Amino acid sequence: MEIRSLRVETAPLEGITTWLFRRTHFSMFGGVDRYFTPFFSPVSEHILTAKDLRDLSPENNRGIPTVPQVMTKRAEDFLWAAEQARDLGFEEVNLNLGCPSGTVTAKGKGAGFLLRPDELDAFFDVVFSKVCLPVSVKTRIGFHDVEEFGRLLEIFNCYPIRELIVHPRLRGEFYKGPVHLDAFAAALESSRAPVTYNGDLVTLEDLTAFSERFPAVNTVMIGRGVIADPALLRKLRGGAAATREELQTYTQTLYQGYRAAYGYAGTAAQRMKELWFYLINLFDDGEKYAKKMRRVGNAAEYEHLEAGIFRDLNLLTQAHKPLDGTGKTAP
Ligand SMILES: Cc1cc2nc3c(=O)[nH]c(=O)nc-3n(C[C@H](O)[C@H](O)[C@H](O)COP(=O)(O)O)c2cc1C
Repeated sequence: MEIRSLRVETAPLEGITTWLFRRTHFSMFGGVDRYFTPFFSPVSEHILTAKDLRDLSPENNRGIPTVPQVMTKRAEDFLWAAEQARDLGFEEVNLNLGCPSGTVTAKGKGAGFLLRPDELDAFFDVVFSKVCLPVSVKTRIGFHDVEEFGRLLEIFNCYPIRELIVHPRLRGEFYKGPVHLDAFAAALESSRAPVTYNGDLVTLEDLTAFSERFPAVNTVMIGRGVIADPALLRKLRGGAAATREELQTYTQTLYQGYRAAYGYAGTAAQRMKELWFYLINLFDDGEKYAKKMRRVGNAAEYEHLEAGIFRDLNLLTQAHKPLDGTGKTAP
């Protein structure tokens, strides 16, 4: 298909794609069809934490197409979370079956749920008999072995999943190394639910190559690529690359917004460090600054460094790759 008309969803990135990011990105750059929130984990008392409320509140999400993501292995907690999402005005809820973090998987959640296919089947059985909103699922292709994916797809196919978002890596691969495009092709072949691709799409060339290989896929999800180049999707729709002034306004809007929201400049600087881990890849020769940014300890250091980046570095028209931490710029 013509890549300009691809549907593009922005991936959840814990600590980065906050409500403030989503609002700022949507109004400044656009090009996104839907944003997914980073996961929230229901607690057994069934209360939304202050952090959850900040991210999910109608005021902070008004006018921005957003899908909240939930991470749990308990059907009753998922059902409760879906009701909260509905009451807050959302129209779909997403289940996280991909988080690779050891503390999460040890509890059988995120990618850890993939190790227990029978429990996952029982979970879906309860969820889909009662859930008040359409459910999409974001999954990896297995925990230890690609062979696990066949059984997982059989389970997914038993339920009316609205959208199956596939990040074709195993748990132990985290976000690095080659994606398993053959496993993705298998999912495309046999999934009853519409399949969305997610993983390593960073440039317009990546999107073109992907579309040529998988012309039947009309929706992709992009995470790090949009953080590294916030204008990526505007360019996809035929618009301009980001300018230096625009990026400066963007990072200042985020930084000042976080300062106001948290009341601590240090916390705001911490949030911005995580964004810059990817965004520095849109500048030529940014290694020195990337290294310094990782060591930033307070707001003054952050402000000094950000000013230096905009003063000293040439802006590129597309981000350096890879964004997985093995590359030159974002180690
Ligand atoms: C820092 C970071 C935080 C992430 N947080 C989440 C999350 O909250 N929920 C989720 O489903 N995936 C999360 N992911 C995975 C991304 O959504 C996405 O699947 C992954 O980055 C691959 O896509 P990309 O190559 O387009 O970035 C996270 C990834 C990173 C690097």
